[in-house]
Amino acid sequence: AHQWRGVLREYADRLDVSDATPIISLGEGGTPLIPAAALSARTGAEVWVKFEGMNPTGSFKDRGMTMAVSKAVEHGAKAIICASTGNTSASAAAYATHAGITAAVLVPEGKIALGKLAQAIAHGAELLQVRGNFDDCLDIARELAAQYPVHLVNSVNNDRIEGQKTAAFEVVEVLGDAPDFHFIPVGNAGNYTAYTRGYKEEAERGATTQRPRMFGFQAEGSAPLVRGEIVRDPDTIASAIRIGNPASWELALIARDETDGYFGAISDAKILEAHRILSSEVGVFVEPASAASVAGLLERAEAGVIPKGARVVLTVTGHGLKDPHWALRTADGSEVQPTSVAVDPAEIAGVLGLVKRP
Ligand code: F0G
Repeated sequence: AHQWRGVLREYADRLDVSDATPIISLGEGGTPLIPAAALSARTGAEVWVKFEGMNPTGSFKDRGMTMAVSKAVEHGAKAIICASTGNTSASAAAYATHAGITAAVLVPEGKIALGKLAQAIAHGAELLQVRGNFDDCLDIARELAAQYPVHLVNSVNNDRIEGQKTAAFEVVEVLGDAPDFHFIPVGNAGNYTAYTRGYKEEAERGATTQRPRMFGFQAEGSAPLVRGEIVRDPDTIASAIRIGNPASWELALIARDETDGYFGAISDAKILEAHRILSSEVGVFVEPASAASVAGLLERAEAGVIPKGARVVLTVTGHGLKDPHWALRTADGSEVQPTSVAVDPAEIAGVLGLVKRP
């Protein structure tokens, strides 16, 4: 039978894996690249959406985690540790338990989406809610990994970036070349760095004629790369990217300069508007942070930066089911109340505005 084998097996020739590497995989990668006619119509560009919510734990983190956990086990690790705004911890928990090792995860207390909290707990992680923010959690995870026998699987671990670069390989495979622009949400800028590396390698081996301009978007209240300084109290409804001191700051600036790229900041209102456009016009349901790439495209197209017909890929990073309550609010912020009806076909037909066949 034919089944996608996960990124380590599919791209074994382009990753640092050998016969000595135990492959810890849940079948990650191979996610759909979806043509988004509604976004093309809105912008005049040719827009494609890379739906990373289709990974096993519902986010792009799985691409990096299969690599990081496989390498950790190859090196004899019995425990991994990470700081997380929720998706990394969900992924680390799943891959660790699949490998038969322990995951310790540090999350900012009360600041991660319920679905993600549930995932880490379901997969048996040692989950600790830290009374601080994500940046505090990352400082502690790094310190513990330096001093105790726990293997760090945040994106400061290069194995994470290596696994995540495979998403760019998949885009090139589908499009037959690199796009003109790649839009992506940014927190620690690990994924921005990973795609940049993936596209660079594709160009170097002659699989593409160009490298895309890398456009990264942060939330306005958590936009250190845009402001050029650490944000001490990062704030946004997009909890996944509520990060004030990005771990891959230096690499991200190099990637931006190499690709004639850009970092922009998006308000929470614009993130939620893009979230709604993506779910109601394209049919792709994401968590709020993921909509930053969509909002970024709409804003840059409006600014006249995107030529007509330019080929644009948007990464949407996490599944909407992780943090679904945003869908149950209208644009003005009020709660959506689904209509209640009796067990009565005539009443239901009436509410639906159906007219009986003659
Ligand atoms: N989108 C989602 C849904 C994320 O969970 C993250 C990061 C990002 C975008 C940003 O990616 O950090 O590589 O720039 N989430 C991390 C976590 C911080 O702990 O799950 P980045």
